[in-house]
Amino acid sequence: MIGREDKGMKEEMKLEFDAISENEGLARVVIAAFLTRLDPTLEQLQDVKTAVSEAVTNAVIHGYEEKGGKIRMSAVLEKGQLEITIEDDGIGIEDVSKAMQPLFTTKPEGERSGMGFSFMEAFMDKVMVESSLGNGTTVHMWKSFQENILSQSKFLYGQV
Ligand SMILES: Nc1ncnc2c1ncn2[C@@H]1O[C@H](COP(=O)(O)OP(=O)(O)OP(=O)(O)O)[C@@H](O)[C@H]1O
Ligand SMILES: [Mg+2]
Repeated sequence: MIGREDKGMKEEMKLEFDAISENEGLARVVIAAFLTRLDPTLEQLQDVKTAVSEAVTNAVIHGYEEKGGKIRMSAVLEKGQLEITIEDDGIGIEDVSKAMQPLFTTKPEGERSGMGFSFMEAFMDKVMVESSLGNGTTVHMWKSFQENILSQSKFLYGQV
């Protein structure tokens, strides 16, 4: 499928939803649908969905401590670069670089393993976290789909 992105145009979507664990599935489905226009491989799709799941779960469990609130997800696609933003207005993170270390968790008692940020970093090209105590957290993630755009153009112009 050749989208407007193939012509170098910027495409954007924004979604706001309740911070309940059921909506992790909603976020996964929406981001997958948004990416369909890039004809992603199963691996690319899985990577992005996993990264989004981790960020949304964090907002539900840590940001809002399972008391609910609103999560905003946005995705921008420009020149083969995908940027995803997951934002909450929850408790915030005291020390972001510490929180992003593998195995660091403030909830060691449950099923948390402290690997969420590590997965986001492994599955996306770049992850950046902005947070302010008492105001919330914004996770920015980038991934390149340049290869997909190139192969679509080759297909389109018969240069395979
Ligand atoms: N949106 C958020 N709001 C507040 N704190 C957060 C948020 N996201 C992450 N954190 C903090 O960063 C820590 C590390 O997050 P990470 O996702 O890496 O691990 P985890 O959620 O504790 O465990 P896992 O993701 O493996 O289940 C969390 O334990 C929490 O203290
Ligand atoms: Mg996590």
